[in-house]
Amino acid sequence: MQLGSASHRDLFCQSFQSSYLDYEPTQLPFPDLNPAQLALLRGIPFWEKARDTERRAGQLVSSFAETLTDPVIREAVALQGREEMRHARLIQTLIDRYDLPVNPPPDIALPPDLDAEFILFGFGECLDSFFAFGLFEIARQADLLPEALFTIFDPILDEEARHIVFFVNWFTYKQIQQGQGLLPLRWLKTGWGYSRSLQNLISAFTGAKRNGAGFTATNANAFALEITPTRFVETCLQANPQRMSQFAPELLQPVLLPQLCQLALQPLKLWPDSPPKLKPV
Ligand SMILES: [Fe+2]
Ligand SMILES: [Fe+2]
Repeated sequence: MQLGSASHRDLFCQSFQSSYLDYEPTQLPFPDLNPAQLALLRGIPFWEKARDTERRAGQLVSSFAETLTDPVIREAVALQGREEMRHARLIQTLIDRYDLPVNPPPDIALPPDLDAEFILFGFGECLDSFFAFGLFEIARQADLLPEALFTIFDPILDEEARHIVFFVNWFTYKQIQQGQGLLPLRWLKTGWGYSRSLQNLISAFTGAKRNGAGFTATNANAFALEITPTRFVETCLQANPQRMSQFAPELLQPVLLPQLCQLALQPLKLWPDSPPKLKPV
C-alpha cells in the first residue's frame, strides 16, 4: 500500500468505520458509589471542561465533515463527530448520575476556517490522547473508584486512539493529494502542526489557557495521587503501544510525543523520586 493512494484512503477510512462500537451512554451500567468514592469523584475538577471540550469537538468535527467532497472520508469524519458528541453525552450522564457540580454548557462558536481548525484539533488530540492513556492507567491502578467505571470509560480511550490514527493518515493523504507529499515538506507541515498544539500545551501548563490540547496533562494529578514525572511518563509510554496495537501495521501512527518522552525518560530517571512532582490543579 502506498501512502496517499486510494487504497491508503480506503484502509484508514474502512478500519475506522469497521472498528466502531455501538453503545448509548445513558444505557451503561454506572455503579453505585460509597460516600468516599462520591466525594472523590465530585472533587475531580475537570468534568465540566471535559464535557465542554467534547461538545465543541463534536460540533467542529461534524461541521467539518459537511464541507468534505470525498464521500468515503466525509462518512468517516462524520462518524468521528458523532463519537465526540457521544463522549460529551457520556460525561454528562456521569455528571447527572452522581450529581457532580458543574455549570451549564456554554454556546459554541466555531471559526470560519474549519479545515485549519480540524487540523489544529487533530494535532492537539495526538498530544492529549497520549497523556490521557497514561493518566487513565494510573487512575485505574490506584483502585480508588470501582472498576465498573473504568470499564465504561475504557472505550473512549480506544475511540480517541482511532481518532488520532485516522487524523495522521488523513493529514498525510491530504498532503500527498495536494502535491505536497515530499517527505521533508510533510515533516515541515507536521512539525508546524505539532508546534501550534505544543504552544497550547505550554499555555495550559502555565495557566494561560485551559482548554483543548494539554487538558489531560495539566489535570494529571486530579486524582490527588503522588505521581512523579518519571512514573507518569513511563506509564504513558507503556499505555500508548497497548492502545495502538488495534491498528493495521500499514497505517501511520502519531510518533512525536512517544519519541520525545522516550528521550526525556533517561534524564528524568537521573532525577530520583524527589520533587518536582506534578502539581495538583
Ligand atoms: Fe472525544
Ligand atoms: Fe477524539
